[in-house]
Amino acid sequence: MEFKYLTLSKDGNVGILTINRPEALNALNRSVLQELDAALDELANDKDVYVIVLTGEGKAFVAGADIAEMKDMTPEEAKEFAETGSRVFRKLETIDKPVIAAVNGYALGGGCELAMACDIIIAGEQAKFGQPEVGLGITPGFGGTQRLPRIVGTKIAKEMIFTGGTITAQEAQRIGLVNKIVPPNTSLQTAIEMAKTIASKGQVAVRNSKRAIDQGIETDIDEGVKVENQLFAKCFESVDQKEGMTAFIEKRKPNFKN
Ligand code: HXC
Repeated sequence: MEFKYLTLSKDGNVGILTINRPEALNALNRSVLQELDAALDELANDKDVYVIVLTGEGKAFVAGADIAEMKDMTPEEAKEFAETGSRVFRKLETIDKPVIAAVNGYALGGGCELAMACDIIIAGEQAKFGQPEVGLGITPGFGGTQRLPRIVGTKIAKEMIFTGGTITAQEAQRIGLVNKIVPPNTSLQTAIEMAKTIASKGQVAVRNSKRAIDQGIETDIDEGVKVENQLFAKCFESVDQKEGMTAFIEKRKPNFKN
């Protein structure tokens, strides 16, 4: 599919999805969300893509939902917009492959929410994170009130959301929002390197690990351990498990087929 606001490329088994609307700091309007939805389907169905990297073109990752588009929305239109974005973000979060966000600059409002829906966040030193929505007279609307407290705890989430303040990449890493900080303009390269490391492992195992973590964290420890037990056992249906263990015994590198 041809996109106006996205570019989709591949590096080996890594799919690279770039939001490309730099003139508006990659702000998410209805069209960008619609394209993201379609691009995620394309990436989900592409058997050669094992890991996805999501980034933004230019000086921002994403500076939020499009304020100009939201300004005159009716409550009904606002609800529909929030629901559409939330559905697309949930699709991103539950896609059956790891997703790494490479955050080069601003990740504000819907941009911070988009990064949080990814599995891992790599940030450039100059990146900035925040949920500034209350300054516009709205709450976060693409899952910020739900994902941020799950990631950093309610106290820090409430401070960030109530004050609308922006935090540095260093602070974001300190509170557990960011995995890794890298020199300016190297977040994409680092994310691709990490994605290639993940892509070199057994993909049934990687996918089952993602499912076990995400399903388990939403339940109690006994249920979570049961989910893990089932997914662990399922790995033994895969050729990768035989190959991974045989390679270890034979003191050679595994040749995963997936
Ligand atoms: C629409 C945006 C935008 C946004 C930036 N732009 N952010 N347009 N929606 N969220 C546009 C500007 O209007 C400007 O267009 C161009 O991008 C460059 O931005 P500048 O402001 O000139 O850049 P700079 O001075 O470097 O400031 C960067 C910034 C600032 C600090 C990130 O742009 C900013 O505060 N943006 C808004 C951040 C925000 O409040 N995000 C939350 C949105 S609400 P022109 O045409 O003038 O060049 C949200 C809700 C999600 O995300 C849930 C919805 C359901």
